[in-house]
Amino acid sequence: MHHFLYKADELYCEEVPVRLIAEQIGTPCYIYSFATLSHHFMTFDSAFKDVSHLTCYSVKANSNITILKLFGSLGGGVDIVSGGELYRARKADIPPERIVYSGVGKTIEEIDFALRQKILMFNIESTQELEQIDLRAGAMGTRASVSLRVNPDIDPNTHPYISTGMKRNKFGISVDNALKAYEKAKSLKNIEIVGLDCHIGSQLTDVTPFVDALKRLRSLIDRLRQAGAHLRYLDLGGGLGIVYDQEAPPQPHEYARALLRELENIDCTLIFEPGRVIVGNAGVLVTKVLYTKRTQAKNFIITDGAMNDLIRPSLYGSYHYIQPVLRNLNKTEIVDVVGPICESGDFLARDRGLPMAAPGDYLAVMSAGAYGFSMSSNYNSRRRVPEVLVKGGQYFVIRKRETWEDLVRPEIIPDFLYADNTFH
Ligand code: LLP
Repeated sequence: MHHFLYKADELYCEEVPVRLIAEQIGTPCYIYSFATLSHHFMTFDSAFKDVSHLTCYSVKANSNITILKLFGSLGGGVDIVSGGELYRARKADIPPERIVYSGVGKTIEEIDFALRQKILMFNIESTQELEQIDLRAGAMGTRASVSLRVNPDIDPNTHPYISTGMKRNKFGISVDNALKAYEKAKSLKNIEIVGLDCHIGSQLTDVTPFVDALKRLRSLIDRLRQAGAHLRYLDLGGGLGIVYDQEAPPQPHEYARALLRELENIDCTLIFEPGRVIVGNAGVLVTKVLYTKRTQAKNFIITDGAMNDLIRPSLYGSYHYIQPVLRNLNKTEIVDVVGPICESGDFLARDRGLPMAAPGDYLAVMSAGAYGFSMSSNYNSRRRVPEVLVKGGQYFVIRKRETWEDLVRPEIIPDFLYADNTFH
């Protein structure tokens, strides 16, 4: 479900023509639908309304502070993986007691920041991290609430780069070592173990791996409780997939039903860290056709949007549906949609059937709300693009296009290069 629909032959986001935004703000730009974002958050959150839970939106999927503020206003918390994400979350007034902090490589600076902010809990991924957090909490005269992130060794059947719960992945502590880690934590003065956590991967289109992982966690919870642990939280991570092409992922209520079946009498507050399922289909990348080019081997549509704006096709071979902003009756041809970047890996689509476009046409790259802008870069010294939020008949620029001055602002030319020309 989303709010990017054609009226007659023109693509709208809610009540605003996409073309209008493209003309007024310029391209490339990301456009998000307020109605879709809110609906997706509420649909996910209400799937668990009968049990004690907290939906901690995963900031990495789309980190714009307006979007964080929106989910905060709907009662959500956040899952963060860096000090920068914590900074954003606090800028968006997310209460610290609704913030969980995941990630294998938390630095001292980040740990201290999170301790000062008094976040709900750290999801820890190794015993060395446990010791580091204990040390820092001790130095600050506080205690850290911690969940053990368990790696259940389950294959989530997704792209290998975004599988996280298998033995060979860097994430979490194995089920076998979890008891040992718990005993270790118990011996540390400034650590309180409050829960268990797991996240097995992203873009899962089947509930089975989630349920299998949960079964392993469930029996571990029993063992930890026997060992004296007071586990108040069970964090089941994120990972629920969306439709990009032909996938048929479970709906949030189906996902909830399958999980809750395994969770009777669990006596924990459940935490979820959904990212993609909330923002993925709530955003599009709008790009303008610059040129078209026919070679002996291929037809190319060259757009002003590139891999630095949306890297998913290049990095994961991901599929994003592309449609014209103004529908036309042009013959469908097999094309590559490519950007201006100086790499053959710079494409938004390959061998795709599209109505042939002409210079000046706008294209909408669909389902780009998750891991779109948040993974964008300045490669080729391209400015990061604006983000626009549509609400009903209005639109709001929630991030401006960077300027060329923005690109060089942090750079410093050493004085010796100015002194004279005598250096060699
Ligand atoms: N929690 C943790 C600890 C995570 O590592 C992730 C995603 C999430 C929650 C949210 O997962 P989601 O609900 O969005 O699937 N850049 C990749 C996706 C990387 C996901 C990394 N971790 C992509 O564009 O497909």
